Amino acid sequence: MFLESRYLSVNEIIKSLGGNVDIIEIASGLSARSLEWPPGDYVYIETDLPGMLAKKQYVFNQILSETGKQKNPGHHFYPLNALDYAGWDSLGKKFFSSKKRNIAVIHEGLANYLSREEKERLRDNIAKFFGSFAANGFWITPDFYPYGNRHKTWITKMIDRRIEKKTQRKYSHFSGQQEVTDFLSRAGFQSDFISSSHVSGHLTCVSKMHLDRVKSSAALERYKTCIARYNV
Ligand SMILES: C[S@@+](CC[C@H](N)C(=O)[O-])C[C@H]1O[C@@H](n2cnc3c(N)ncnc32)[C@H](O)[C@@H]1O
Repeated sequence: MFLESRYLSVNEIIKSLGGNVDIIEIASGLSARSLEWPPGDYVYIETDLPGMLAKKQYVFNQILSETGKQKNPGHHFYPLNALDYAGWDSLGKKFFSSKKRNIAVIHEGLANYLSREEKERLRDNIAKFFGSFAANGFWITPDFYPYGNRHKTWITKMIDRRIEKKTQRKYSHFSGQQEVTDFLSRAGFQSDFISSSHVSGHLTCVSKMHLDRVKSSAALERYKTCIARYNV
């Protein structure tokens, strides 16, 4: 439910910005968003580390050829290590040098694996990128949740331990929303947090997996996606 709701929640927040916004999805992995996103007068730049992006391109092309789906003309792949500003700068020069546009940077399942120092680097790269290339910048991500001080059950503790072992990374969660707000404001972002309740009607997992609707609603209220606006 967490995975499906964060995906849908990011979609809804992008749509709420109106059509006049270009999208840069970082760390997109095998996410299907770019395949599903309707064509329009914008660019959708899909990025990840080079090896992962190559795999994604292969899968993406397979799906197009198997389904006969048309490629969205505004969609582009571009390799990017989100922690390396030189990559952001090249991306900006390639796609946004002629005109400043409204740009949304989105990701899910990246920042929660980063150390605090890496999160700061990511934030500063996005702020610098918006300052150089955007008319208005929107950073949209559910990745600042879960918080370190949340109530943990044995199952969430077990999941955390397993993911830490598998990724060989120690989680460094924010303690809560206020800490995230302060972290973002230090680089010039103003943040809002949108609970996932607004996507509850679209979740397919609740009925497919026979989840308890009352518990599901309480969880959706807690899962918040952050939209951080950069004042260019
Ligand atoms: C857990 S997956 C999430 C993928 C996708 N966003 C999703 O929701 O299914 C994490 C992704 O982050 C990418 N990644 C890890 N470090 C990165 C970095 N420094 N810059 C860009 N992408 C990175 C990985 O290659 C991987 O595709």
